[in-house]
Amino acid sequence: MRCPSCQTENRAGTRFCVECGLRLPIASPAPPGATGTLPQQTVLQDRYVITQKLGQGGMGAVYRASDRRLSTVSWAVKEMSQSAITGPLERQRAREAFRREAEMLAALTHPNLPRVTDHFEQDGKAYLVMEYVPGETLLCFVQREGLPQPLPRVLEWARQLCDVLDYLHTQQPPIIFRDLKPANIMLTPHGQVKLIDFGIARVFKPGQARDTQAFGTIGYSAPEQYGRGQTDARSDVYALGVLLHQLLTGHDPTITPFRLPPATQLNPNVPAHISAALATATDTDPDRRFPNIRAFRDALFGTAAQVMIRTDAQPIGQVAAGGGAIYARPDSQPYSQPGSQPYGTGAPPATTGLANASRWIGIASVGMMGVATLLIFMSGGDLQEPLGSVGMFLSIPSFGGMLVAMTLGILALIRRPTGQTSSGRRHAIVGIATGSVALVLCCVIVVLIGSTE
Ligand SMILES: Nc1ncnc2c1ncn2[C@@H]1O[C@H](COP(=O)(O)OP(=O)(O)O)[C@@H](O)[C@H]1O
Ligand SMILES: [Mg+2]
Repeated sequence: MRCPSCQTENRAGTRFCVECGLRLPIASPAPPGATGTLPQQTVLQDRYVITQKLGQGGMGAVYRASDRRLSTVSWAVKEMSQSAITGPLERQRAREAFRREAEMLAALTHPNLPRVTDHFEQDGKAYLVMEYVPGETLLCFVQREGLPQPLPRVLEWARQLCDVLDYLHTQQPPIIFRDLKPANIMLTPHGQVKLIDFGIARVFKPGQARDTQAFGTIGYSAPEQYGRGQTDARSDVYALGVLLHQLLTGHDPTITPFRLPPATQLNPNVPAHISAALATATDTDPDRRFPNIRAFRDALFGTAAQVMIRTDAQPIGQVAAGGGAIYARPDSQPYSQPGSQPYGTGAPPATTGLANASRWIGIASVGMMGVATLLIFMSGGDLQEPLGSVGMFLSIPSFGGMLVAMTLGILALIRRPTGQTSSGRRHAIVGIATGSVALVLCCVIVVLIGSTE
């Protein structure tokens, strides 16, 4: 127990401070299974020496620990209570799930994830040992630095977050992070982003092993995380969209969950293609979102972003935690450059299937309708004539094609993905225009035939 007056650390149970003699307050015994109560210098597994408490949440606590075996290394040790689990069978299952998940996390290696190196159980609590990340959470950073954050900096964070989320989503089976928010992202003094706080704690919460509200945060979590629906990669697409929207606009997503005003409206400095990408990513309907992180990343890092992301290691921000500057990493190249595989070119897609189909069907139908009109004109509008009957024969599929081209073109124009392509809108307009010309030619044919009767 630490003396409130002289700060001397006294042995547990001591009534008076050994240094100044002050009567020490009687510590109320922590409830069984309580987390976050380990005093400094507590040794776990005869190896990890607790040096500091880093954080405390509802489900557990995180400590910094030194290592008796590797004296130069610091670890972050996450402590999780098992007290919410009562039945012996349930406890056994939770332990197995914990072991499985810990081993799954230990198998992950990515520069934007702290390495998980060990797990164990002690005194009714489960512990996960991971790399200690120096720096501070993104939440602390933005609380100090304010919002909105400059676009190049946010794009650099976005690049790293897309990278690590894509890594998680492409594991077998895919790992969905589920709780992406500023408090669960750490920023190192060198501007590197690390995702912390995997939902491993859920294995110790009865009835919460599925995707439920308990493992998301209102405002950042996708609507499907609140119901019975299973979450997939698109739920992380949603949360990343909300997070980037907040960083670029300063809008607090917890105020209007599931309804975010367009980013450009809140901050005119946000480029239109980024605002559109954020709107798609944060659509309440998962089917209308980007199907995966790669598609979101491709939409974000269009031509404008490529120009803005620095390719050299120049400071791009102010002083971060620990006194270092935030740097753009040297490998933060525009995605169209060689070496950025396997994510494709990074440029927005050229068109959508709908827009392209509308264009080509429109062109084909106007061509055929033109030939049909010419033949019927040459026959003097007489369908008994060979030329007239061939013209009539050609005009029927052209009429169908015209209807299809116009319908597809209109559908393509009103669908959001078309707006995110470089030529989608143009192709849809070509489809509608050629369809309209075919319609005019069709009317000419009707007039020609009518004039002979
Ligand atoms: N690997 C780590 N390195 C350094 N600090 C960490 C690490 N993991 C967590 N922390 C600190 O502990 C706090 C709580 O961690 P987190 O895993 O988010 O737990 P929870 O949200 O369940 O309380 C974080 O805000 C961060 O300050
Ligand atoms: Mg957390």
